[in-house]
Amino acid sequence: MRKGIAALVAVSLAGGAAAYAQQKPAVDAAKVDQVMKASWKSAAPEWQARLEQDQTMKECTTSHNTPSNAVANAIIAREKANIVYPADGKFIGDWKKGEKLAQSGYGLRFSDYPAARENGGNCYACHQLDKKEASFGTLGPSLHAYGKSRNFAEREAKVVYERIYNPQAHVACANMPRFGTNKVLTVEQIKDIVALLMDPESPVNK
Ligand code: HEC
Repeated sequence: MRKGIAALVAVSLAGGAAAYAQQKPAVDAAKVDQVMKASWKSAAPEWQARLEQDQTMKECTTSHNTPSNAVANAIIAREKANIVYPADGKFIGDWKKGEKLAQSGYGLRFSDYPAARENGGNCYACHQLDKKEASFGTLGPSLHAYGKSRNFAEREAKVVYERIYNPQAHVACANMPRFGTNKVLTVEQIKDIVALLMDPESPVNK
């Protein structure tokens, strides 16, 4: 049920961005900011900070997710610069832990303050992964057989790590959360999810 609610929130946020891209807003952006802030007055302090757009979010909003090549390249360079890589240089953790994290939508919702357990990645809300899982969203591409289709190449594990840590380091205005940059997931958790995609033993590659 919790996963379902988080999935709905994720989909409606991203869906909102898509709808937004199709019509020019008639309302003053400053007024929208004002209404947003006023609407979340009683939210936890951690939430309040999330109402401030950073430079990348602003540039994606003002360009309706279609920045010029120059702006897109600048976003990608800026976002890539904030990626923290594993200290041991290893990108593949434990796929079993990764599967639990991919299933979990816990974290950053109203009911999750103060946090009672570790955040999840909620990957199934937007992606197919294990073929046996019946419930998944389709906002993102299917990730089934992800490692297998890339011959389990070492360099691909690094790319997946980056794409989870900060999708905007690859696609300037990606509709996927910046899990590492926004401190939703830790380096170790991201390694476990990389294993879910890249380990030959993972159900994703069966
Ligand atoms: C809110 C929806 C959403 C969530 C949640 C989400 N993703 Fe994504 N993801 C997307 C979208 C949309 C794309 C395609 C555009 C892009 O590259 O950002 C994508 C792209 C990807 C790609 C690149 C696929 C390729 O073409 O090579 C990977 C890998 C990926 N996601 C993994 C994950 C993992 C792992 C999680 C969970 C930690 C996750 N995603 C959570 C929406 C999401």
